[in-house]
Amino acid sequence: MATYHQIPDDEKGYELDLFCVPKHYEEDLDRVIIPHGLIMDRTERLARDIVRDMGGHHIVALCVLKGGYKFFSDLLDYIKALNQNCDKSVPLTVDFIRLKSYCNDQSTNSVKVIGGDELSTLTGKNVLIVEDIVETGRTMETLLSLLSECNPKMVKVVSLLVKRTPRGSGYRPDYMGFEVPDWFLVGYALDYNEYFRDLGHICILNEKAKVKYKV
Ligand code: IMP
Ligand code: MG
Repeated sequence: MATYHQIPDDEKGYELDLFCVPKHYEEDLDRVIIPHGLIMDRTERLARDIVRDMGGHHIVALCVLKGGYKFFSDLLDYIKALNQNCDKSVPLTVDFIRLKSYCNDQSTNSVKVIGGDELSTLTGKNVLIVEDIVETGRTMETLLSLLSECNPKMVKVVSLLVKRTPRGSGYRPDYMGFEVPDWFLVGYALDYNEYFRDLGHICILNEKAKVKYKV
């Protein structure tokens, strides 16, 4: 069972004024829920756990775009630091896949692959899927079933966040950073209609912003 930090439903987070947020988003955000520094500290530990379990194998890290790119980049930096400083090291290569399932703050029922490398290059490889957030689990279940057709040697999934939601399928990743309440979160590459990826902390949007950036 993966260990993780649980953010409770009554979590108040932090006032925006305590941290630096881009001026262009100041009016759009309610609270900071996970400050950037905490994301980094938790990611450092996930890197250690992954190297402990997968060390010795060549890992292909598969980034689920676009939301996963910040976590992917920081996680791989920490894995690289371990590789440079430990007796045991893991060769690392990278791959990318682009999936889309969201419109406004609602998950749609279809998960579409809209770009990336051919999954067939992953045949026989040890694959680490790197995702930003698991909500219903549909995206990850779809990707895992597509991937299984290509017969990788091993597949592990790391997700920075997992949402506690009644809409969940029960799917849990092998590694997870935080379990979060059933809130729509933005920042650290998580977006609302492509906005807020350029925000360092993970935050809650206010209702006005949901209307302002609606498509
Ligand atoms: P699932 O298929 O319902 O598990 O949803 C997973 C995908 O939906 C994630 O990869 C995200 O891209 C997106 N998503 C789910 N919840 C949020 C959120 O709170 N903020 C931003 N994107 C989200
Ligand atoms: Mg995602």
